[in-house]
Amino acid sequence: MTDPEKLRRQALDALTTARARTALLTSCVDDGELTAQHSPLMSPLVWDLAHISNQEEQWLWRAVAGREALRPEIDSVYDAFEHPRATRPTLPLLAPAEARAYASDVRDRVLDVLERTPLEGGRPLVDAAFAFGMVAQHEQQHDETMLITHQLRRGPAALDAPEPPPGPGTAGLPAEVRVPGGPFTMGTSAEPWALDNERPAHARVVPEFFIDTVPVTNGAYMAFIADGGYRDERWWAPEGWAQIREHGIGAPLFWRREGGQWLRRRFGVVEPVPEQEPVLHVSWYEADAYARWAGRRLPTEEEWEKAARHDPVSGRSLRYPWGDDDPTPEHANLGQRHLRPAATGSYPAGQSPFGVRQLIGDVWEWTSSDFLPYPGFVAFPYKEYSEVFFGPAHKVLRGGSFAVDPVACRGTFRNWDLPVRRQIFSGFRTARDA
Ligand SMILES: [Fe+2]
Repeated sequence: MTDPEKLRRQALDALTTARARTALLTSCVDDGELTAQHSPLMSPLVWDLAHISNQEEQWLWRAVAGREALRPEIDSVYDAFEHPRATRPTLPLLAPAEARAYASDVRDRVLDVLERTPLEGGRPLVDAAFAFGMVAQHEQQHDETMLITHQLRRGPAALDAPEPPPGPGTAGLPAEVRVPGGPFTMGTSAEPWALDNERPAHARVVPEFFIDTVPVTNGAYMAFIADGGYRDERWWAPEGWAQIREHGIGAPLFWRREGGQWLRRRFGVVEPVPEQEPVLHVSWYEADAYARWAGRRLPTEEEWEKAARHDPVSGRSLRYPWGDDDPTPEHANLGQRHLRPAATGSYPAGQSPFGVRQLIGDVWEWTSSDFLPYPGFVAFPYKEYSEVFFGPAHKVLRGGSFAVDPVACRGTFRNWDLPVRRQIFSGFRTARDA
């Protein structure tokens, strides 16, 4: 992993893969739809498109290569901290053709920079191609964000993808597995493109616990609804109870009840909710309420990571549940190959040493933990990546969804969001004390 030429090829590959996805997500609708705001929760797609390239220009053209700004006047328009999403349609955004031309100009220059920049020599930003990997991850994260915009968009389907392969199901699998108590290594100091919040590797002592073998299914979640889960204050954190009362929430986002069955809207198609699929589009409050109703709780972030990475035979933490190899389609449902989670029990080749399945891919999994720095955390390369989000306002999600590219998904990768969020590709599994 540390061979600079290999990392150079991986960076080229990651940037190219990200751009192909960006192009697909922004070419499957017309210019009117690109500039429209489909939800106040999201930016117009054309904002994401130019923001991706503006960040790429700032980090790789200016910071890495030391060159002058190409379009200094647009920096402020594409600064995510200056403008909340709801206000972005009012900004003087580049029109679609202009945004595409800017994107391709930046990319041409950046590929040239990648070709001639030495990738070792003591510059933390460029060693091991870190900034290139960071920029590829950033673009893929916006590709996930743009997929959320597509899910929120009304109108006929614009995207299509094959169904996930039929998995072996959950017959014969235990409902939960036991993870013995003791120390394990959390986080990483070795992964070249790990972001600051995943660092450094450190020992954690986690008491024995039990965790679900697979994520909670739509079918199980329907039982919670049918049992009056949304009408029973006992299961809800006070803020969650207030949210579901205020907005009249009684099911996951995009679900509706019709003719005695649950239907959902998924990328422009209305279909019956599949009972064997992991539940999707639930807030942290909904996940937490379900877990309490079930007599269980959400796993902590450290429990999740121990269940995913700890190898009890070697005592080592693996890069992924299945080992140290990069993900393949046999391991996990990633990369927007399929526009939905796979049925629970799928991807046996991707299970962890404890036999926990689908930790990577399918749905982001809410944990009970606040987003906090690890001991020894150092902000890199800027405070706005993670540090400004640390604290009790954000809950940690782990594992990545079907919408996440492998470059932005590792056993150590940490995502965070507000506990009210439900338009994200979020699900969960439950745990209990031993
Ligand atoms: Fe961004």
